[in-house]
Amino acid sequence: MRKPVMAGNWKMYKTPAETTAFFEKFRPLVAASGHCEIVIAPPFTNLAAAVAAVQGTAIHIGAQNIAWAKEGAFTGEISGPMIAAAGATHAIVGHSERRQYFGETDETVLKRTQAALEYGLTPIVCVGERLDDRESGKTEAVLVSQFQKGIAGLTAQQFAKIVIAYEPVWAIGTGKTATPEIAADAHRAIRAEVREKYGKEAADSIRILYGGSVKPDNARVLMAQPEIDGVLVGGAALDPVGFASIVNF
Ligand code: PGA
Repeated sequence: MRKPVMAGNWKMYKTPAETTAFFEKFRPLVAASGHCEIVIAPPFTNLAAAVAAVQGTAIHIGAQNIAWAKEGAFTGEISGPMIAAAGATHAIVGHSERRQYFGETDETVLKRTQAALEYGLTPIVCVGERLDDRESGKTEAVLVSQFQKGIAGLTAQQFAKIVIAYEPVWAIGTGKTATPEIAADAHRAIRAEVREKYGKEAADSIRILYGGSVKPDNARVLMAQPEIDGVLVGGAALDPVGFASIVNF
């Protein structure tokens, strides 16, 4: 049985004060949500406020990115030891917005994922095809290539600790959710790659989340797919009541 991961990616939204206010409302709404793991990834500048706000709860805090180096002359980067010292336990890696706007590649995704693991953080590694990939029938080829270049470099021991998020780029922030069937097809393709590379047990245990315009009103049908082991939510994770209703699908 794979325990669902219900994750929120706040992107570049909210101040520390707004973070504290979010958790004041959110905490009681998910106090009994033991059916899943909850992760919220605020901007780096809110990690401390978020960690303080979830003290004593089962809510996990994650970063939205992680440097591949431990420290050094890397202006603008935040390292694994810094994220861990702030009290966070997860790191999103390879989000499509990082790939699209900040030059993230499968190679850097692999390095960042390895760094997260090295410093004891759980990486949530994102893959997903663009609209032109889908329209030209390349969805599966893109997913396979992202898996092979960005993930398959992990050892089996490392792989056992990651979470994968399938986020079709055309569904992110557009209001166009993939149908549960489209999402499940992609998840099956990714799981088949996992089976081939790491074996059946790894394929049966890896959690693959769906992301892209997940809202309170479609979370239930998505989560009804046995292939979908949780969600990575952007816009709808900014509202405590809305995100709690997704968590409690
Ligand atoms: P969205 O974003 O839920 O706003 O579509 C999802 C994501 O980018 O992780």
